[in-house]
Amino acid sequence: MQNFSYKNPTEILFGKGMIAELATRVPLKTPVLLLYGGGSIMRNGVYAQVKGALKKHHVVEFGGVEANPFFETCLKAVTLVKKERVKFILAVGGGSVLDAAKFIAAAALFKGRDLWAILEKHGENVTAALPVSTVLTLPATGSESNGNSVISRQATMEKRAFASPHVFPVFSVLDPTTTFSLPRKYVRNGIVDAFAHTMEQYLTYPSAAPLQDRLAESVLQTLIEVGPVTLAKPKNYEARATFMWSATLALNTLLGCGVPQDWATHMIGHELTAFYGLDHAETLAIVLPGVWQYKLPQKRAKLEQYGRRVWNVKTAKAAIAQTEKFFHALGMPTHLGDYGIDAAEAAEKVCARFVERGSAFGEHGDINAIAAATILRLRA
Ligand SMILES: [Fe+2]
Repeated sequence: MQNFSYKNPTEILFGKGMIAELATRVPLKTPVLLLYGGGSIMRNGVYAQVKGALKKHHVVEFGGVEANPFFETCLKAVTLVKKERVKFILAVGGGSVLDAAKFIAAAALFKGRDLWAILEKHGENVTAALPVSTVLTLPATGSESNGNSVISRQATMEKRAFASPHVFPVFSVLDPTTTFSLPRKYVRNGIVDAFAHTMEQYLTYPSAAPLQDRLAESVLQTLIEVGPVTLAKPKNYEARATFMWSATLALNTLLGCGVPQDWATHMIGHELTAFYGLDHAETLAIVLPGVWQYKLPQKRAKLEQYGRRVWNVKTAKAAIAQTEKFFHALGMPTHLGDYGIDAAEAAEKVCARFVERGSAFGEHGDINAIAAATILRLRA
């Protein structure tokens, strides 16, 4: 097992009716930014519940945060935060709203002039941030309980991530009933995203970390079990609750303690979203099997372990096939061609981006521009 430090400061407030907790937990004496997305919280009653809990608070609202939140939108929110002297940010929505809140929180206190530098330096230059808390309405990203954020820049079609211990939420409210009305596609995406997060920390090479392996496998098995149920029965509280908690555990930094991590699938996937507008999870379902195919010799031992323990199959190839079958059963395509995207063109574009940035990812740091292009060509 590798050395690690582990600290997750986010308090999780889980269950029915927990939004009411905002009344006592959000500071009363300072202006609070209420950040949200496209307005689904108006339709599903979450906005009314939040406003009800905050009726004694000084609330400044900013809505319209888009999926794959734009840097340009965040800048407008930063201006509002400074103008209104906001001291606390409450993000209500899915991972995109939460990610935007983290960026806004860091940007509001950032010393430099160029806020894009936060993304270019992956957050290493973030030394402080406004406190952020969240009400999660879409299980997927794990953003409710980690220090990660992904922001897209419209002007340059870039999608970049940053991480900082300063942007872990202070608390996050997870009420599974807020997910009852989610469109099917969002649920499918959330299952695949949580599955991929687990894999990025698990499917590498054996590293004498049996507990982390078993933890990861239990999250995978739970998602496989509960994913189809929550799609078939959207108002089944137990299934929604289990899915919601699984997505949090998939990326609250626990699974990654002391083990090598991959993340090549995410990094290649971000480029596909930037260039072609695919949903984040759609890119993962395409790229993940490709990374495994490309790295089959190095990943064979873990693929076989995963296959044996999770799917009861013997070979690495069968484990990959089972994974794709699972994605298909959720209604998730796994090839570029399914979206009418030319694999050769995608390979060329992503390759150029990786060359430009000198990027190399994966547990061996060998998923460079050439490797990324090869992986994408495998996914025609
Ligand atoms: Fe993700």
